[in-house]
Amino acid sequence: MSERTRDLPRRSCLSVPGSSERFLAKAPTIPADLVFLDLEDACAPLEKEAARSKVVDAIKNHDWGDRVLCVRINAWDTKWTYGDVIEVVGRAGERLEEVMLPKVQSAAEVVALDLLLTQVELNSGLAPGHIGIEAQIETARGLIEVESICAASPRLETIIFGPADFAASMEMPVLTGGVQIPEYPGDHFHYVFNKILMAGRANGLQVIDGPFLKVRDSEGFRDYCQRTRTLGYDGKWALHPDQVTILNELFSPTQEQFDLAHDLLEAYRNATEDERKGAVMFGDEMIDEASRKMAHKFVTRGKRAGLSRSKD
Ligand code: GLV
Ligand code: MG
Repeated sequence: MSERTRDLPRRSCLSVPGSSERFLAKAPTIPADLVFLDLEDACAPLEKEAARSKVVDAIKNHDWGDRVLCVRINAWDTKWTYGDVIEVVGRAGERLEEVMLPKVQSAAEVVALDLLLTQVELNSGLAPGHIGIEAQIETARGLIEVESICAASPRLETIIFGPADFAASMEMPVLTGGVQIPEYPGDHFHYVFNKILMAGRANGLQVIDGPFLKVRDSEGFRDYCQRTRTLGYDGKWALHPDQVTILNELFSPTQEQFDLAHDLLEAYRNATEDERKGAVMFGDEMIDEASRKMAHKFVTRGKRAGLSRSKD
């Protein structure tokens, strides 16, 4: 199944506290591309062990449609990681497709999870390699190591930025994660966004931006999403259903962009195959092989988002 999920859209990745039966029951009704049931920071330490069974029951008993289904386990520097994997992956069955590993600091942490998953899959009747890994970069050390982390395991499907923990790790003087800091002349995360994006793309991963904590500020959210969307990220976290709606719209190409990309591909194909030319005019622009690659990305993303060409 991790083959199924590798290319599925992750425009909106909804966080659901694993200790809340109410939120676990509501999650399948929200049209997020990916849902992650959280055993980490959205679960109080005293609730973490009890939450494992709630998460397993929710995975087995609710209808999750075709969205990507993920569980966020606790980081390796806690006492819960191996228990989360054994108890949740070992009992959830094959509908669980991804495990999210937070606060990843080194490639070795991903390798350790990969090895543990291999044994749990063997013992629970899951196909080898069934579970994909989603790794969060949210510390200074993790960012320094991001290139080796992204290359650490064939199970990796996404790399995710965690702005709240990252701000804490860097000792930034802020109290809200993932929002704009008006006093800073520019984008304080510009370097971080690009560094993670490059490492992810160099290893064929989807690249996801983390939470925006001001959940009632829809306009601020919409505005902030433009940063990573414009750089080329695949999606972003949602902490509320309203954020899901905004993300599904913003991280999809518009119908107009999708149609234009198809027209460009058609024009380029005619030019290269029929006329044997490498560069031709398309409207008032010159297009060539690089334009084909850009258009191809729009078409792939549009198809992932369920668009079809207006002409067809
Ligand atoms: C997400 O986990 C974050 O820390 O921003
Ligand atoms: Mg975090």
